[in-house]
Amino acid sequence: MSFKQLSIFPILLLCLLSMGKADNPSLPLIPFPKELMVISGHFNLNNGTKFLAPKELKNEHSYLTSYLKNNHQIDLQLKSKKRNEIIIKINKSLPSIPGSYQITSDANLLKIEAYDESGVFYGIQTIIQLLPVNKIHQIDIPLVQIKDQPKFQWRGMHLDCSRHFFNTTFIKKYIDMLAFYKMNKFHWHLTDDQGWRIEIKKYPKLTEIGSWRNGTMVGHYREQKIDSIKYGGFYTQTEIKEIIAYATSRHIEVIPEIEMPGHALAALAAYPEFSCNKLPTQVGTRWGVETNVFCPTAETFHFLTAILNEVMEIFPSKYIHIGGDEVPKDEWNKSSFCQQLMKEKGLKDANELQSYFIQRMEQVINKRGKIMIGWDEILEGGLAPNAVVMSWRGESGGIAAAKMGHPVVMSPGSHCYFDHYQGLPEKEPLAIGGFTSLEKVYSYHPIPPDLDSSSGSFILGAQGNVWTEYIKTSDQVEYMMMPRMAALAEVVWLAKDKQTYANFLNRLKLQIPLLHHKKINFCQTELSK
Ligand code: ACM
Repeated sequence: MSFKQLSIFPILLLCLLSMGKADNPSLPLIPFPKELMVISGHFNLNNGTKFLAPKELKNEHSYLTSYLKNNHQIDLQLKSKKRNEIIIKINKSLPSIPGSYQITSDANLLKIEAYDESGVFYGIQTIIQLLPVNKIHQIDIPLVQIKDQPKFQWRGMHLDCSRHFFNTTFIKKYIDMLAFYKMNKFHWHLTDDQGWRIEIKKYPKLTEIGSWRNGTMVGHYREQKIDSIKYGGFYTQTEIKEIIAYATSRHIEVIPEIEMPGHALAALAAYPEFSCNKLPTQVGTRWGVETNVFCPTAETFHFLTAILNEVMEIFPSKYIHIGGDEVPKDEWNKSSFCQQLMKEKGLKDANELQSYFIQRMEQVINKRGKIMIGWDEILEGGLAPNAVVMSWRGESGGIAAAKMGHPVVMSPGSHCYFDHYQGLPEKEPLAIGGFTSLEKVYSYHPIPPDLDSSSGSFILGAQGNVWTEYIKTSDQVEYMMMPRMAALAEVVWLAKDKQTYANFLNRLKLQIPLLHHKKINFCQTELSK
């Protein structure tokens, strides 16, 4: 062995050590990269570090520049006499997967190359996770060689802003938390029985009336207590556009959910003419499922078409979520109009009527070149031709849809509902029920074993849901989502055979100072063990 070979031997050894499972817990990286090699030495980030970017990466350039200025008081320079430099660039020879990137570094150069802009952004997030929070002006970053790419294309988080309303400052913080963990879909639940939260200019009563309720359940549902405090709020279209721009610059697609035909009481309080009984009603004050739903009349379809068209004007997302879950058929079964319609259209039961309803809405969405998503109830009575199914009542809906060749997002209550308890109920704040520990989330695999590889390819990824019946404050949202979202982020990014819970937990513990620095109110139950 020559001297030259000898000198690279320790590097090769380190490389071999860090390429198997995610077994390098000394770096606080979540999700852990596909391939990582640590080399001895540092790149010193300081006020003399040069940072230039091509025009197409202006957004990523300004993101990192302002992050370092705001968090570490480091002013990167466009021109500098020093040799110390950061480069970001697109490299189409990298794996052709959106989000794939690589990092190479030595003492003078830190280079992030990526297949696309989102990959550059993810490389930046990786670097940010390596920065010690207490350092300003000068930071030594360990030298790393990374090759990384996401396993799944749908790495989602949902937030229910109907049951409780969260202001735009918090929504931006929520988006930042997603970005930090390389999540790329924000499913924004904007309408439900207890509040309509999106301004629709054609139907102003939706927010004038539908965004306010006269009371809210206190304690658990089983206690059936309701206070009499007026509660409400909504997002103007200007605010929504601002949120979309904020998310887009962080490579997060914002997908609106406009619930139909059920979970519609807030809309029906504003416009009772679109229910079957047409009787005046009130915005919901208790949790659960309401029997008063949209009636499938021509007038209702006209109303919902106008709403969806306005929504699609605002949201550039490829996907539009129409809910479709938990639709009691009581009113439809009582309605002579519905019975007549079913006869005319040859629909054999109310499930087929629901399918007829959803398929009409899908046409509106497809007409704009967009794709409709619904909860797995949209399978009942026949799935709309181009629908994506979000599987929440376990995985069976997702499995059925994938076998039919429909794209699926897995979000089963068992592993992905972050409104469930994460520790012993007697030690945790009141929650809806269930038990979804951090370890359980981490154990999730979005492709069920009973799907063969061709059906399995229809699984787009997975999503964590934050329903807010029992979550009144943004602090509590953070507590319920973190660190479970971090676990899910690794589930949807890293190959299953590289995941180990103990190792993830070690890396998560290393992130604690950063989580405090970001003022995230995370649950520490698993971290203090
Ligand atoms: C749901 O949790 N009702 C989709």
